[in-house]
Amino acid sequence: MELLKQAIIEQGRVLDENILKVDSFLTHQIDPSLMNEIGKHVAETYKDKGVTKIVTIESSGIAPAVFIGLHMGLPVVFARKQKSLTMNSELLTSEVYSFTKQVTNTIAISNKYLEEGDNVLVVDDFLANGQAALGLIELCKQAGATIEAISIVIEKSFQDGRQLLEEKGYVVDSLARVNSLKNNKIEFID
Ligand code: G4P
Repeated sequence: MELLKQAIIEQGRVLDENILKVDSFLTHQIDPSLMNEIGKHVAETYKDKGVTKIVTIESSGIAPAVFIGLHMGLPVVFARKQKSLTMNSELLTSEVYSFTKQVTNTIAISNKYLEEGDNVLVVDDFLANGQAALGLIELCKQAGATIEAISIVIEKSFQDGRQLLEEKGYVVDSLARVNSLKNNKIEFID
């Protein structure tokens, strides 16, 4: 998606050869008009696929997911990393290990909001090692829901997330694929 690539080039900062900082439009401050374009773009791709729900994980997956849900006319549910006091129904849970932060989080979604018969579009801001996506997939499986595809805003193609997910048979659909962050330069695939 050209508009997204342009934002990455103009505003992204390479922190080291593994980390791309995009906190001016995606992970801290949010650019609603860019999110709106992302929503339109993804909605167009999946409009005839029988998706019933958008599923993401807090916090930075929520902004793109909400705009995708808006343009598809679908509800958006996000997995929580910390149990909310008001989450008193049955929970679907799974463990997600973050290589970046070196911590394991238990993520949870109420079984009220993810059910058998749902066909899910999984959305996240970054795809690095694929652990967050795998955690969300596990929650969908527990619910008896199917997965249409994994829709990612920024894929770091030099890490192994895509391969891991594709090997398990999932469709990975990324709006921008970053091939390398070496020498302070952002290189894309395509
Ligand atoms: P994985 O889910 O693909 O295995 O990724 P990893 O554990 O490496 O990522 C942990 C967190 O770091 C995730 O956010 C992920 O979105 C984010 N992240 C990974 N690579 C980058 C990067 O290059 N730049 C930026 N800005 N973020 C990256 P999180 O900690 O789960 O949550 P949140 O920040 O959305 O709250």
